[in-house]
Amino acid sequence: MASFFEVENLTKRFGGLTAVDNVSFSIERDEIVGLIGPNGSGKTTLVRCIMGIFSPTSGTIRFKGQDITKWRSWKVVQAGLVGTFQVVKPFRRLPIIANVMIGCLCPRITRRGEWVKITPVKARDALEFVGIADRGLEPASTLSHGDLKRLEVAKAIATEPELLILDEPFGGLNPAETELVAKSMKRLHKGGRFGRLHSEGPAMLIIEHKLSELMKIVDRVIVLNYGKIIASGTPEEVVKNPAVIEAYTGREVPVA
Ligand SMILES: Nc1ncnc2c1ncn2[C@@H]1O[C@H](COP(=O)(O)OP(=O)(O)O)[C@@H](O)[C@H]1O
Ligand SMILES: [Mg+2]
Repeated sequence: MASFFEVENLTKRFGGLTAVDNVSFSIERDEIVGLIGPNGSGKTTLVRCIMGIFSPTSGTIRFKGQDITKWRSWKVVQAGLVGTFQVVKPFRRLPIIANVMIGCLCPRITRRGEWVKITPVKARDALEFVGIADRGLEPASTLSHGDLKRLEVAKAIATEPELLILDEPFGGLNPAETELVAKSMKRLHKGGRFGRLHSEGPAMLIIEHKLSELMKIVDRVIVLNYGKIIASGTPEEVVKNPAVIEAYTGREVPVA
């Protein structure tokens, strides 16, 4: 049977540089999968191909049995696949809650005539989930880097994704903030209701450079190096894999 989400032989070239090199993997509906790899290994490029921001040079992306390879971003979001960005760029002068509401402007959420009534409620629930609901009316420019990362997560979950892709959600966060975000990811995945959102938690693909927190929440890890998958398995398996240790040589192996 086809998997919930599948990437098959995906390649993305920038001129002579092959940033993503014949990558294949799949994710099941109930999984949290980690995607790791040294800087420049192609993680963000892979995510951008999935999200319809870059068009892949070759290969196929399938979500819930549909070929979404050539779909535009809005259509991918509408199908229930949402990503957050490594570099966070909010509408700084707009209220925090408006930043979340804008992300909900797609037919999947809005259905006819419901937008005005429902979107503010969903946006508030999402902000509550990430713990910044009390600041919803302040402009986004007032948020610290850590809180901007939370806003990014709120924007994504307000669209009620079935697959959530997070690009370096711990980037620039201190250990306490990292732990908080990691725990909320796990809670979100387990599902249950908060406000009107999520009766069923999303599958997740979490891209990270920092591994220690990630390893605690993922079921499985895929390792990229120079655009190729060099290992995959449980966190325990991959950190012992010689190819992974080699890829991180010269850097601190961030798990130890
Ligand atoms: N828009 C782009 N144009 C040209 N090269 C790019 C572009 N985006 C990324 N690259 C290159 O692709 C490679 C992979 O980058 P990236 O996907 O950002 O890696 P990671 O997210 O794993 O750090 C790097 O060599 C990077 O310089
Ligand atoms: Mg990156």
